Amino acid sequence: MNFDPTPTQQEIQQMARQFAQEEVAPLARETDESGEFPLHLVKRMGELGFLAATIDPAYGGSEMDYLSYTLISEELGRVDSSVRGFLAVHGSLVSLCIHDWGTEEQKRHYLPHLATGDWIGCYCLTEPNAGSDAASMESTAREDGDGYVINGEKIWITNGGIADIALVFASLDREKRHKGICAFIVPTNTPGFHREPMPGKELGHRSSSHSHITFQEMRVPKGALLGQPGEGFKVAMSALDHGRIGVAAGAVGIAQACLDASVDFARTRRQFGQRIGDFQMIQAAIADMSADIEAARLLVYKAAWLKEQGLPTTRHTATAKLFATEIAARAADQAVLIHGGRGYSNEYPVERFYRDIKGLQIYEGSSHIQRIVIAREVIGREAV
Ligand code: CAA
Repeated sequence: MNFDPTPTQQEIQQMARQFAQEEVAPLARETDESGEFPLHLVKRMGELGFLAATIDPAYGGSEMDYLSYTLISEELGRVDSSVRGFLAVHGSLVSLCIHDWGTEEQKRHYLPHLATGDWIGCYCLTEPNAGSDAASMESTAREDGDGYVINGEKIWITNGGIADIALVFASLDREKRHKGICAFIVPTNTPGFHREPMPGKELGHRSSSHSHITFQEMRVPKGALLGQPGEGFKVAMSALDHGRIGVAAGAVGIAQACLDASVDFARTRRQFGQRIGDFQMIQAAIADMSADIEAARLLVYKAAWLKEQGLPTTRHTATAKLFATEIAARAADQAVLIHGGRGYSNEYPVERFYRDIKGLQIYEGSSHIQRIVIAREVIGREAV
């Protein structure tokens, strides 16, 4: 077993780290406060080849391996989950999904624009009454002449307010549950596509664009269908298999950032006449963070390696996401505590990490859903 990244992977990691530290990190606090997504970074990520990391060069991609993609996600996650979240949705849920399921014509039409960031993608699955139970969606599609007419409502759509292209899931026949669902690629300027920001202020990911989207008699051509009619649920789930690795890697990044900040603080902050890092309770918290991060990172790498081999990854991706987000939540909790009053203020980034990590535990399938996915594979389903 070889744990060394290849020279190319190291180069990509270095490039991602430099971009994250020099171009993303300096804006993170300001954009968290303003709620404005730093759109100029999208084009920069396109130039660096991050937006279409694992995609075939024939469609504008960088043909990186999946481990490289996780290294990029980890580096971005270390500084700003809103930017890393943008990449997971745009690059994995949308671009990779079109790459896997699209016709040659769809791939040639959409992927090069998504690779440069000229077009931004969003993924419209979640609805007011269909979150974890995605197959119960109420949005409908009906065949009408040479196309489909879509009606429905989606919520919590990341990148929704800035997207040019939306992957839309809607049911041709709700009686059939998941077997009735179709996936469509829809330009967001299609008549009948309406979007507005989600109400309220989010706990974290405050610079992400989260939208409430409605489709009112939205007509799309037959060529908008991604996959076959009725295959939409599998399209959606396979996209999440890609996206969840990015989320898991981003969580490792958050945990690493919490460890780094806690170590710096423990070395410099003095109380009772010594560095707080010389107290055993602080040492224990830091040691646990360090051990958890090592384990989570290996799970992410394993899932990426399996994906690279073309092997099934659903269980391993769910395991990586579950474990990495849970340990990152503990790391953020401990990092704020170690920083004391300072950790409670946005003067220090651990406050933002503490808020952001809750999002990673929820989106792209909550920790409860990851446990269901793992348990179904481990225990198996009863034959009916
Ligand atoms: N890949 C391909 N196919 C899959 C699959 C996968 N990973 N997982 C399931 N399927 C297939 C199954 O094989 C089955 O097919 P057959 O009928 O041919 O056997 C079909 O899909 C139905 O599968 P299930 O019976 O397992 O479906 P279910 O209704 O019980 O749901 C679930 C399973 C895992 C709970 C699923 O609903 C799920 O993942 N829920 C969470 C939804 C989610 O993650 N939402 C996130 C929203 S997107 C987001 O957050 C992005 C953003 O903007 C931030």
